[in-house]
Amino acid sequence: MKIERATKQDVPAIAECWVDLRLHQREQLGGQRPSLIGMARQVERNIVKPHCHYFIAKDSGNVVGAAFVRLRSGGRSACLARAYTVPSHRRKGVMRKLEQTIVEFLRKRRITTLDLTVVPHNKEGMAAWPALGYKPTKIVMTKQISC
Ligand SMILES: CC(C)(COP(=O)(O)OP(=O)(O)OC[C@H]1O[C@@H](n2cnc3c(N)ncnc32)[C@H](O)[C@@H]1OP(=O)(O)O)[C@@H](O)C(=O)NCCC(=O)NCCS
Repeated sequence: MKIERATKQDVPAIAECWVDLRLHQREQLGGQRPSLIGMARQVERNIVKPHCHYFIAKDSGNVVGAAFVRLRSGGRSACLARAYTVPSHRRKGVMRKLEQTIVEFLRKRRITTLDLTVVPHNKEGMAAWPALGYKPTKIVMTKQISC
C-alpha cells in the first residue's frame, strides 16, 4: 500500500469515497442523498486551493482510502475534514498510515494541532480516532426543531 498526495486524476476516486462516507453518515444523521457529480465538482474546486490538501492510499493501483486536510488561515491548526477507508481494506492500517503522512506534512509546516469532528453514533470513527491519539476537546449539542 502506498500513500500519495492526490492529483486531479484522483478526483473521481476521491468523490466516490466521499459519497460513501456521506451515505455512512446519512445512516446516522439523515439528510439528502449525495450526488457523485456534485461531489467530484466540489473536490475539483478544492484540490487547487492552497489550504486544501488531499491524500490517498493506493493498493494495486486502486484508491482504498482518502483523507482531506484543510489548513486554517493565519494559525497553527488544521482540520481533518474528511477521512475514509473502503470497507474491504478497513482494520488494515490504511487510516493509520494516511494520518501519519498528514501529521508529517503538517509538522513540516509548523502546524501544531489537527482536529476533526466525529458523531457519537459512528462506531468506527469513535474507535479509530482515540486509537490514533485524538482526545475529545469540545462537545457540540444539537436540538432538532420540527417545522
Ligand atoms: C474510521 C475509518 C476511517 C478507520 O479506517 P481504517 O483504515 O479501518 O483504520 P485503521 O485500520 O488504520 O485503524 C487504526 C486503529 O483504529 C482502531 N479502529 C479502527 N476501526 C475500528 C473499529 N471498527 N473497531 C475498533 N477499533 C477500530 C484500531 O485501534 C486500529 O488499530 P488496530 O487495527 O491496529 O487495532 C474507517 O472505518 C471508515 O472509513 N469508516 C467509514 C467512514 C468514517 O466513519 N470516517 C470517519 C468519519 S469521522
